[in-house]
Amino acid sequence: MFWCILFKTTFFNKIMDTEIYNKITKRKQFSQLCKIDVEMAWKHFENRQTSTEDKIKLTRNLLGKSFAMFTSKRFLKSKFFEAEWILKRHSSTSERFEFYPEIYSKIFLRIKEKAIVFDLGAGVNGFSYSYFPKGFSYVGIESLGQLVKSMNLYFEKKKFKNAKAMHFSLFELQKIKKLIKKEKGKKIIFLFKVLDSLEMLEKGYSKIFLEEIVNLADKVAISFATRSLIKKTKFKVNRKWLFNLISLKFKLIDQFEIGNEKYIIFSKK
Ligand SMILES: C[S@@+](CC[C@H](N)C(=O)[O-])C[C@H]1O[C@@H](n2cnc3c(N)ncnc32)[C@H](O)[C@@H]1O
Repeated sequence: MFWCILFKTTFFNKIMDTEIYNKITKRKQFSQLCKIDVEMAWKHFENRQTSTEDKIKLTRNLLGKSFAMFTSKRFLKSKFFEAEWILKRHSSTSERFEFYPEIYSKIFLRIKEKAIVFDLGAGVNGFSYSYFPKGFSYVGIESLGQLVKSMNLYFEKKKFKNAKAMHFSLFELQKIKKLIKKEKGKKIIFLFKVLDSLEMLEKGYSKIFLEEIVNLADKVAISFATRSLIKKTKFKVNRKWLFNLISLKFKLIDQFEIGNEKYIIFSKK
């Protein structure tokens, strides 16, 4: 399983037809996605007995569910956004907005020295950097290029020298690992509301991903939405696989629910 996924995520970008790729990414919301994510979505349909146009449509639908549905087009502009404005309006951060101080104080508990946060699948969460303890550094990793640009524009304007966003896919596992390993000091990994998107493109990837990266950090904070944003109905998933994985290979530190989001904090053993 591990090698199969590693092979797929390493070699897919050499296979996809450029014309098809260009057609899929013609839409603004997909135009700056990391190529590997587009390829991962395409492979779900490339062998279907249907027309190329249909396959392109199906690929766009899947990309819509994994990426675009969280970020409305108004955030995909290369311009400066005020932190409060965007955090209150983006679907991933709006319900969290008023709880940032509480959430971060729980996650950063007992981290006394300056630490670096790797926010994987960051969305616009980099705009919450001013809620971090003084002296912390931030690296946001995000596949939607427009969000990477707007976070960097914000850091630049606010002169936050220790914060940056980078344009990578979480399927570029080796690059992500290299990036984390390269940094010194205490490291904290955020994976807020992103594992479900990874599972949509590659079932079973989250587990492999966690097994590879948790040991590179001092703490990992994962979150899941507990309520549907649109219908407001409670999700019935219990994430048993994750708790099994943590009890087998890692150490559970804390878990709590705030603002329709469940947080699970753990570390290497
Ligand atoms: C539900 S949003 C959560 C955003 C942020 N973590 C938060 O909770 O505020 C999921 C984010 O993960 C990003 N994402 C999904 N799959 C990704 C991948 N393979 N690589 C990088 N980013 C990804 C999406 O573009 C989107 O911005």
